[in-house]
Amino acid sequence: MERREHWSSRIGFILAAAGSAVGLGNIWKFPYITGENGGGAFVVVYLLAIIFVGLPVMLAEIVVGRKTQRNPVGAYMSLHRGQFWKLAGYMGVLAGFLILSFYSVVGGWTLGYIFKSVATGFSFASTIKDSSSEFSNFTASPYYSILCHAVFMFLAIAIVYKGIRKGIERWSKILMPTIFVIILVLVFKGLSLKGSMEGVRYYLSPDFSKLSSRSVLIALGHAFFSLSLGMGAMITYGSYLSKNENLFKSSLMVVIIDTVIALLAGLAIFPAVFAMGFPPDAGPGLVFNILPAVFAKMTFGSFWGLLFFSLVAIAALTSAVSLLEVVTAYFVDELKMKRTLAVVIFGTFIFLLGIPSALSFGVWKHVSIAGKSFFDFVDNLASNYFLPLGGFFISVFIGWVWGVKPAVDEIRHGSANFADVHLIALLAGLKDDPSHNSDIHVVTLASLWGIFLRFISPVAVFIAFLFTIGAIRL
Ligand code: PHE
Repeated sequence: MERREHWSSRIGFILAAAGSAVGLGNIWKFPYITGENGGGAFVVVYLLAIIFVGLPVMLAEIVVGRKTQRNPVGAYMSLHRGQFWKLAGYMGVLAGFLILSFYSVVGGWTLGYIFKSVATGFSFASTIKDSSSEFSNFTASPYYSILCHAVFMFLAIAIVYKGIRKGIERWSKILMPTIFVIILVLVFKGLSLKGSMEGVRYYLSPDFSKLSSRSVLIALGHAFFSLSLGMGAMITYGSYLSKNENLFKSSLMVVIIDTVIALLAGLAIFPAVFAMGFPPDAGPGLVFNILPAVFAKMTFGSFWGLLFFSLVAIAALTSAVSLLEVVTAYFVDELKMKRTLAVVIFGTFIFLLGIPSALSFGVWKHVSIAGKSFFDFVDNLASNYFLPLGGFFISVFIGWVWGVKPAVDEIRHGSANFADVHLIALLAGLKDDPSHNSDIHVVTLASLWGIFLRFISPVAVFIAFLFTIGAIRL
């Protein structure tokens, strides 16, 4: 068998994993749910969700990946003989198919809007009404939406086709810094506009009255989606790591990058929206309905729009790549297919699967499955069922089945002091010296992680799951 490809450097892995995490979730969704749920107050809750659930589960997935050097199905199989756990892996691969099929449709829209910004300079968006009807017409057109979806899938296929180092890593190293630069430029531009401070206030000043127990569960669910957890993307990316990487530090970096970009996205959007005098509470319509009108009013709006939609498209692309890689890794590892063949076949299949989603904004608007449009049905099934369940399974699997001990042993390759770092010493910024404190009993990072995985994450994720599927109401 061919040797498994590995990332060429730690930064390569971090940027690829951050590329998976930073996506539509950060730029399109995070800003508007934050605006709706009490601004700064929501940010605090979101940060807690990230720390208590996101980071531990992220580390869990990466550990399982590196330990087994396999895709999610193979990973579970090689750590446990039970048939049940294999199913958790299959659910991840299936989630890869489903999420990518509709994610690529939205990714396609962003490409369409890149084109529109250049071709029209947003002349169609002099009012929000015009801008919204342009968006509905665009997404309703079977021709444009399928074409854009095809181009987007093609780009993802082209990157994954090239493999880990020459494809995913190489492009992440180019695209992730690009994202960072664009978003900073947009934040500065937004903040420099007259009246922008109102936007910052709306976005970040805490309003605890808008924060409900609902918001807590929204934060939790979003933390999951945003960090690409629950479907094995991080297992898969972790499986291309070698034994000498420090898994804890890498996970922490990925989580920090994802969170910083999400926060910056709001700062790139709201100040500009306020400065141009538009309403901030358009929810999901913020990016495609309101922003074009904002750009239409700006000098050089076509340029700013081009930058913004390129940002969204790039972020979506690097996430799409990770979704496709999960699917590809499964067929390569388990069915011994050639990577190039697997990518083309299943990439095409996902494209076809996305067509009904693309059409569900137009000609298939009235076709419904379980009372939802095709797009919403697939999104709901994958994002609200598969991801939380997947996160629940990986936590329970490590916490109670495979064991925290072997997992910590795995982490200690590459970060020998993981189990010995005294949390208090770490927080205090003291260099850890295990011999020094060995007689004092303090909580170590490893035991803290074990407690999170065994008790806190599964329970929190499960409650959030019951809430999102409507089994409990608040
Ligand atoms: N994290 C991506 C985003 O925020 C979405 C994603 C979910 C990607 C699951 C891969 C796996 O848009």
